[in-house]
Amino acid sequence: MEVLGIDIGGSAIKGAVVDTKTGKFVAEKFRIETSQPSQVKETVAIVSELVKHFKWKGKIGCGFPAVVMNGVVKTAANIDRAFIGVNANKLFGKATGCPVHVLNDADVAGFAEMKFGKAKNFKDFAIFLTVGTGIGSALFNKGKLIPNSELGHIYMPNGLKGEKYASDGVRKHENLDWDTWGKRFNEYLTYLEQTFYPNLFIIGGGTSRRLDLFKHHLTVNARVIAATLQNDAGIIGAALQA
Ligand code: BGC
Repeated sequence: MEVLGIDIGGSAIKGAVVDTKTGKFVAEKFRIETSQPSQVKETVAIVSELVKHFKWKGKIGCGFPAVVMNGVVKTAANIDRAFIGVNANKLFGKATGCPVHVLNDADVAGFAEMKFGKAKNFKDFAIFLTVGTGIGSALFNKGKLIPNSELGHIYMPNGLKGEKYASDGVRKHENLDWDTWGKRFNEYLTYLEQTFYPNLFIIGGGTSRRLDLFKHHLTVNARVIAATLQNDAGIIGAALQA
């Protein structure tokens, strides 16, 4: 089956038509930059533009950077606060004329990794993290997703939220070198490990490509691997979940 997968991110909205059996794109993906944070109206306009670009008429799956319960947006850490309380399924559905299924971005990206990535068939407890502007998380126990986990918002012993201390956004904003940031990220992973004791951490988002630059600072007992689908995971997972 073919589904249009859309990944709404902090700085861009991307989409592609996905073959849900293989997880492969049917045609090249399309990306549109947004302002930061993108306002509700702008986000809706860009999603509609993507749908028009693909001349799409069928089902749409959409990853969104917030807690989403039954289509309703519950939080807004790095997005327009006006999204809170909005039924995103209805909002994007009305604008595009297609059935739209919106879920948390990290949950869908993690789902794609567990299905098509290196962690395929992993049966123990895995924590998937998207490390970008914020930190998103997805928990998988025996391959089953526990949704809306929000581990980027967990308070660390230093009093800061994980994503305010160790996200890629913070690395860029504070101009940290990879060694300094790698040690911070290790503190964050260590805190997660001591709280959840996972068997595996999967690192997604832009940083996953740079794991070789900071892996030597990671001292957790759990295995740490880079996500394989990288920037496409959100689109693929959104399509699969729809
Ligand atoms: C949001 C999460 C999201 C993550 C990555 C966080 O700030 O609270 O819902 O998954 O950013 O986009």
